[in-house]
Amino acid sequence: MTLHFRSIEEAGAERICRLLDLTEHMAAVGRRPNPKVPALRGKTVCNLFFEDSTRTRMSFDLAAKRLSADTMTLAVSSSSVNKGESLRDTVETLDAMGVDVFVVRHRTSGVPWQVAGWTPAAVVNAGDGWHAHPTQALLDAYTIRQRRGIANDFSGLRVAVVGDIRHSRVARSTTEILQLLGAEVVHVAPRTLLPPASDVATTSNLDDVVSEVDVVYMLRMQRERMGAGLVPDGGEYSHRFALDERRAAALRSDALLMHPGPMNRGVEMMVDPAELPQSTILDQVTNGIAARMAVLFELLGSGGIEE
Ligand code: CP
Repeated sequence: MTLHFRSIEEAGAERICRLLDLTEHMAAVGRRPNPKVPALRGKTVCNLFFEDSTRTRMSFDLAAKRLSADTMTLAVSSSSVNKGESLRDTVETLDAMGVDVFVVRHRTSGVPWQVAGWTPAAVVNAGDGWHAHPTQALLDAYTIRQRRGIANDFSGLRVAVVGDIRHSRVARSTTEILQLLGAEVVHVAPRTLLPPASDVATTSNLDDVVSEVDVVYMLRMQRERMGAGLVPDGGEYSHRFALDERRAAALRSDALLMHPGPMNRGVEMMVDPAELPQSTILDQVTNGIAARMAVLFELLGSGGIEE
């Protein structure tokens, strides 16, 4: 049976811990003078992004190249999708060229499971609709592990995930991985931006938690997935839920400030995070390469990662 990486829930705790350990090895590879290893020589990774991306697409491309895989990236906006070619025909056409892994981003939840039914290749979910973004969760958990100097037991760690939880696949996957590792998560949002059913603790008062928690994880407002009238006007949203100077000053000195990117400066981020020692935002970007190398290596690698 082909192994895929489509959600944290599907992967389960044992595999996630193995992937976090593997991410650490890949991060060490990335620090070598020559960060390229032959592990996936002869394998082909196809990036199939039907939604915009900077971080995920570029880091999968770099991760595959650092493992010596061949890469193909379909520029969907200039492909035969524009002539009416279906998703299935697109996948089967690319599959006929000899793909070992499809990395798929799509605006519709569940597409990575559909794709896996049309190809014998492995499928990695690079974000499906509101549902899941498991490699983001993996790099987030690894970034916390790295910055806190801890292993895969996050018990005692308190994390506030702040903003548009309802429309965020990042919130869903990152909450899942944090809970799976033992962290305590609280969702901070206006009631209209919370999921209708959830067993996660919630509050609408960011000031109650910002100075208490170990990690503040800010989210972007997903306006492209949002109906009108779900949030107060931008100014009021920022007043209640943005990281402004007063809240940044209230962060614990040993807290972590995270954001998956892209950031909306002036909406959820009213300060320059680059000036805050608590910010892990660029570490998250760097660790995205190692986490995605770990996923690709787990799915396809049979060789070692020696130079
Ligand atoms: N965090 C994230 O998924 O960013 P991109 O949309 O730029 O890939």
